[in-house]
Amino acid sequence: MENNKRTVTCGSLRMSDAGRSVTLNGWVHRKRDHGGVSFVNLRDLYGVTQVVANAELSVITAELRNEYCIAVEGTVHARPENMVNSEMPTGEIEVYAEKIIVLNRSEVLPFQIDEETRANEDFRLKYRYLDLRSVGMARRIRLRSETAFAAREWLTAQGFLEIETPTFIKSTPEGARDYLVPSRLHAGKFYALPQSPQLYKQLLMVAGFDKYFQIARCYRDEDARGDRQPEFTQIDIEMSFVNREDVLTMTEGLMRHVFRKTLNVQLPERFTRLTWEETQERFGTDKPDLRFGMELKDFAPFVEKSDFSAFKNAIAEGRYVQNEAASKGIRIAGAGVKALVVPEGAVFSRKRIEELEAYAKIYKAKGLAWFKVSTDGLLEGGASKFFAPQAAEIASALGAKTGDLVLIVADAKRAIANTALGAIRSKLGKDLGLCDKGKFEFVWIIDFPLFEFNEEENHWEAAHHLFSSPKEEFLGAMEKDPGAVLGDLYDLVLNGYELASGSIRIHDPALQKRVFAITGINAEAAEQKFGFLTNAFKYGAPPHGGIAPGLDRLVMLMAGKSSIKEVVAFPKNTFAVSPMDDCPSEVEQKQLDELHLEIKRNIHTLS
Ligand code: AMO
Repeated sequence: MENNKRTVTCGSLRMSDAGRSVTLNGWVHRKRDHGGVSFVNLRDLYGVTQVVANAELSVITAELRNEYCIAVEGTVHARPENMVNSEMPTGEIEVYAEKIIVLNRSEVLPFQIDEETRANEDFRLKYRYLDLRSVGMARRIRLRSETAFAAREWLTAQGFLEIETPTFIKSTPEGARDYLVPSRLHAGKFYALPQSPQLYKQLLMVAGFDKYFQIARCYRDEDARGDRQPEFTQIDIEMSFVNREDVLTMTEGLMRHVFRKTLNVQLPERFTRLTWEETQERFGTDKPDLRFGMELKDFAPFVEKSDFSAFKNAIAEGRYVQNEAASKGIRIAGAGVKALVVPEGAVFSRKRIEELEAYAKIYKAKGLAWFKVSTDGLLEGGASKFFAPQAAEIASALGAKTGDLVLIVADAKRAIANTALGAIRSKLGKDLGLCDKGKFEFVWIIDFPLFEFNEEENHWEAAHHLFSSPKEEFLGAMEKDPGAVLGDLYDLVLNGYELASGSIRIHDPALQKRVFAITGINAEAAEQKFGFLTNAFKYGAPPHGGIAPGLDRLVMLMAGKSSIKEVVAFPKNTFAVSPMDDCPSEVEQKQLDELHLEIKRNIHTLS
């Protein structure tokens, strides 16, 4: 490589370089032959430069194919004025080749290298090293690197120490299934890969490292989807002697710095805050996309005066179930009748509304009632006849105008009405093009319930994780009504995605025991699973709290994408497989023997 080494990249030459002798290294992006003269667009990570080769070099230019890796020695020339390409940063110049050397040939490509690869996903993943040559992928991988750097830079400047925690840890339930690593030295025993560094970062607080962060790999054996991968990365953060306000302010500062440094986007000083309850009521989700309005409105006040029995029954059933629960000392929300106004939705066909109804049913809605607001403010179609006498009050309460469509879900369980209509709101936001890609709407969701009731298994479980603290005002009566306890929990949501999650932690061993007990973990099981943490807490554990933004999701949203695969160099596909190297793969019998493992014979019939 001695003589052919590049002196400049393919993205750097400008008009002021005219006359310079340069050497370029890169890949043949496109080649055009024009009567003895060849034009080669030479590409590297930094851009594309047009190389002009005259007839003297025709032997070698004739050989060049797309993606040949070559070196070009030549001189920079200003392009004739009518040939300037203002869309290319190097478009004012071209390099007249004096020598072209083929560094390596390329076979015929499985797909063309372009701005974005237009091939199906498995194909892209099989040839990921080629897909990564596309301008779009390269730009996003660069953005990822810059984002991680900006986060490190800011956190370090704030006095945080980056500390690595183990990736072979004890298997402790944290929500998802663990990935297990069998131990060769200890037959029948397993390491687990961490779902997050949660327990270790808390132990670091006990150890006195009061500002910790780590760009940490996390592993969760759960079904992959657009915003989830089996292995992913968190910007994991923990701090001692802090309250919620400190963690939220720190995170806002971090996000502001990252967005300013990488995208030159100025985020607001403070992010909007909504309580968990408010976001359910207004958006039907704890991950609201605030780039558009279309908030859910309460429709219950109009049911009483109507003859719509489906809605009336839902309310009556909700009241009955609520009373039953109350007699057992449990408070539940009762029924919900919620409405969503779709601006100018009166043009929706019946078929389109039926499709929305089918969508609502995925979220357990029993149906989707609707009517349109016609020219003179009258209600029209669907369930309009039941509500016609209240048309004016309804339109004013919902803020519905002529030409709008009103969609309504009623359910004995308020959460179902909210969630189903919230799902429709999110869908319509996308379908109607209301989600502006250049907009970043952050919102904090605070005051989550600490416990969730698992109806299948008939017990309470931690809504986030077991180490989050209840809010102080609920400490006294926690056992009496776990469902009413709010935790000192917070999520940071960006454009409808959960970007980060965190909490103020329990640092008092006695309180931790109470939380274990409520979630059905007895003293013995707690000792066995989490003894190392609860023991550590006996030695003056400081009050602490933290948060973990997902790096993949952050970069995905910054890049305006809806799959984190677009910002991971070598992701797994939807089946947790890497088509490039066929991972996971079978291993040799010898390896299994060393690990004391035996594979069940009928394994292939299982899958
Ligand atoms: P949590 O489980 O909510 O909290 O995760 C925090 C953030 O990590 C990202 N994330 C994922 N990204 C891609 N693929 C996945 N499978 C995946 N799972 C999670 C999300 C999410 O908001 N230890 C706690 C944090 C804390 O309390 O400090 C935790 O891991 O962006």
